[in-house]
Amino acid sequence: MDLKDAILKRRSIRKFSDIEVSDEEIKELLIAGMAAPSAVNKKPWEFYVIKSKEKLEELRKHGAPFGKMNAPLAIVVCGNKHRFLPFKMSEFWVQDCSAATENILLRAVDLGLGACWCGVYPNDLAVKSTRKVIEAKDNIIPLNVIWIGHGTEEKEERSQFEEKYIHTL
Ligand SMILES: Cc1cc2nc3c(=O)[nH]c(=O)nc-3n(C[C@H](O)[C@H](O)[C@H](O)COP(=O)(O)O)c2cc1C
Repeated sequence: MDLKDAILKRRSIRKFSDIEVSDEEIKELLIAGMAAPSAVNKKPWEFYVIKSKEKLEELRKHGAPFGKMNAPLAIVVCGNKHRFLPFKMSEFWVQDCSAATENILLRAVDLGLGACWCGVYPNDLAVKSTRKVIEAKDNIIPLNVIWIGHGTEEKEERSQFEEKYIHTL
């Protein structure tokens, strides 16, 4: 798929069929995620791939507070404090992991899958409860849950281009 098409077609899909996402597709999504740019190329990310029905149910109950979707797959994108930059620059992890997340969303479109980014960090309660579900230690900070599957809702491709947000000097 043309990159421009994938960018404009990417929409938040929140309803899914039971058809599983194959291991090959999951690998493709993760390759896309890990190709993202990151500050000083620190790659401070960890990807928790949730396939088990029990864990998906737990995630719906205790994960991202506004994201309870019936997808057969979730990828929880997390930052690993052990690979953060020092001092104030540590905050770059959010941008790094967000870049990885967008790459996953775009590759999902390319593979004919639907997906929705559901925020976790900086909601402290959601961070704690999501971390518990994915059985991670305290150095792991869940940034979001990406629900992924075969969408059962269609959304229009659209551009949100608006001249008023552009400031050319
Ligand atoms: C940081 C972030 C957090 C989000 N959290 C949620 C969420 O908790 N639940 C949800 O349904 N959608 C969530 N979304 C998706 C947005 O609602 C969606 O991107 C926005 O409405 C624009 O629609 P579109 O993705 O179809 O272009 C989130 C998106 C971002 C970038």
